[in-house]
Amino acid sequence: MIKINPSEITPEKLFFSRRTFLAGLGTVVAGAVLLNGCGTEETAPPPAPAPPAAAPEPPPLEPTSYDAIISYNNFYEFSLSKEGVAALAQDFKTSPWSVEVGGLVKRPQTFAIEDLLKQFPPEEKIYRHRCVEGWSMVIPWDGFPLSRLLKAVEPQSNARYVRFVTLLDPEQMPGQNGGVLDWPYQEGLRLDEAMHDLTLMATGIYGKPILPQNGAPLRLVVPWKYGFKSIKSIVKIELTEEMPPTTWALAAPHEYGFYANVNPGVDHPRWSQSTERRIGDLSRQPTLPFNGYAEEVAYLYEGMDLTRFF
Ligand code: MTE
Repeated sequence: MIKINPSEITPEKLFFSRRTFLAGLGTVVAGAVLLNGCGTEETAPPPAPAPPAAAPEPPPLEPTSYDAIISYNNFYEFSLSKEGVAALAQDFKTSPWSVEVGGLVKRPQTFAIEDLLKQFPPEEKIYRHRCVEGWSMVIPWDGFPLSRLLKAVEPQSNARYVRFVTLLDPEQMPGQNGGVLDWPYQEGLRLDEAMHDLTLMATGIYGKPILPQNGAPLRLVVPWKYGFKSIKSIVKIELTEEMPPTTWALAAPHEYGFYANVNPGVDHPRWSQSTERRIGDLSRQPTLPFNGYAEEVAYLYEGMDLTRFF
């Protein structure tokens, strides 16, 4: 199994300064080799003992360009064409906006988006983003851990799942006037998945407020799962005892399930999951179990048969 170093999750500024540092290091190493090549056998020092073999470093996470992130989107409420979403969503009204958080909680609350941002100031998180269709990106999100919001409403002891619902507004979202899915789009997580540190409520990308095509003003990001779990433009979060229905599993139960953890060993009926194409790259690369986050999340699924699709 390919191991991913958690330090790969590097803020953009550090990411670039680390590259500068590594580039500098390359010059020094190359310089040392050159100097060594100028020596003679008599003056050259005895060879140093070989260093212990190090594990190969995984490639750094190189963020996808902002242009690609905001112009290649899946958001069926606007369009089935990835390139068509941005234009149709450009006038989408994201203010005023509020999010109702309720169900099996001790302190149900409705939050205005500005208050959420004040209460839970966003931090940058650079995550891999993997669509079940076989393409991927690396996105520098700004957001806050969902766990902070859930703790604020105090889940009751019988809460086991979290359900998320997108805005229903066919006047603004032309795709909701018909189409292939039942509206509003809904998704769900088990409560322990929702409370995991990696699970993010995203409000920005590359330090700018998130645009409508990416799920403004608030969307879920669960980086170890296929992208369809990361529901956009959320208006409702509800804690439940039963596993909530989810849009894609309702539409095509033989293709999609509730868990949808990225798994290169289990193909979707229409798309192999063993490799992926990073948007901006020409060649494909191996897909990583749990999208590269196995070390952080595999324990959540101990004892589960992960070879059953989703
Ligand atoms: N959320 C809603 N409400 N509607 C959608 O059609 N598409 C999902 C997910 N969230 C979708 C959604 C899918 S299939 C993917 S791959 C991601 O959003 C795409 O996110 P991006 O456009 O920001 O890359």
